[in-house]
Amino acid sequence: MYVYPIYRPPSEATSLILQLTLGCSYNQCLFCSSFKNKPFHTRPYETIVQHIEQAQHFYPNPQRIFLADANVLCLQTADLLKYLALIKETFPHVERISSYGGPLDILRKSEDELRQIRAAGLDMLYMGVESGSAEVLKFVHKGVTPEEMIAAGQKVKRMGFTFSCMIISGLGGQEMWESHALGSARVISAINPDYFGLLTLIIDDVSPLRPFLADGSLNLLGPEEVMRELHTMVRHCQLDRCVFRANHASNYYSFKGVLNRDKDALLAEISAAIEHGVYRPESGRLQ
Ligand SMILES: C[S@@+](CC[C@H](N)C(=O)[O-])C[C@H]1O[C@@H](n2cnc3c(N)ncnc32)[C@H](O)[C@@H]1O
Ligand code: SF4
Repeated sequence: MYVYPIYRPPSEATSLILQLTLGCSYNQCLFCSSFKNKPFHTRPYETIVQHIEQAQHFYPNPQRIFLADANVLCLQTADLLKYLALIKETFPHVERISSYGGPLDILRKSEDELRQIRAAGLDMLYMGVESGSAEVLKFVHKGVTPEEMIAAGQKVKRMGFTFSCMIISGLGGQEMWESHALGSARVISAINPDYFGLLTLIIDDVSPLRPFLADGSLNLLGPEEVMRELHTMVRHCQLDRCVFRANHASNYYSFKGVLNRDKDALLAEISAAIEHGVYRPESGRLQ
């Protein structure tokens, strides 16, 4: 009943995954090869009912459920509400239901629709901010400006979702690193999500960014440059009780803390990482 590949945030490692949609209905971000070989489909109602029944047979009592694939918020609100009702009925003791929520889908839904979705049991959203720099967002075809990203993020928070935002270290390369660091700090601060997750740019062999590397218009940051970019980003963040995690397999170094509370400690850790130059050995970002 699962159609691979499947992606989920690191914090959903123990969650039951229910696949309501396949692939990504947008699929244009240049850094993201996740679904480039998996055409987008919504699944028929009967297939979803069967999928939920089968999942319940193997995992009768999950604590957490993650709704895949890339953007279940692209579903019609009436359909999503129907699926959430079925999931809550099938798994009455589930403590948290979450999914990715891209900025375009969030902006497309009215506040009333998001409020209904939240009330129906979708507790948490993960939004790929990726960068807060206007030039980087445009370069990677994320489809929104920094102001639209902020509007999407603030809307999610107003509607009462637990909210996590992702930024990709190194996404602007050497050309745009400073704008990436400062813009990302500004956008994340304006949203003030509950969680701020950091990944590091991975370029695999089907990445749409490959041609930019080949023609020299994008030059990747090395580990020390990634750390310096992160230092600038964290220094400029103004956050209130935001859990910061850089624990994805792509990261050169693992950091965690609560911002702004632990800002000085985090900055000191990043400086120490630069000084000692010891980075995760498995961190081959260019595959
Ligand atoms: C599977 S995607 C789903 C995101 C969701 N569709 C959105 O737009 O918010 C999850 C996240 O993986 C990260 N990601 C995707 N490709 C990446 C890459 N090549 N390097 C690093 N992180 C990447 C991005 O932060 C992205 O938001
Ligand atoms: S980052 Fe999200 S919206 Fe962009 S292509 Fe990947 S899955 Fe789709």
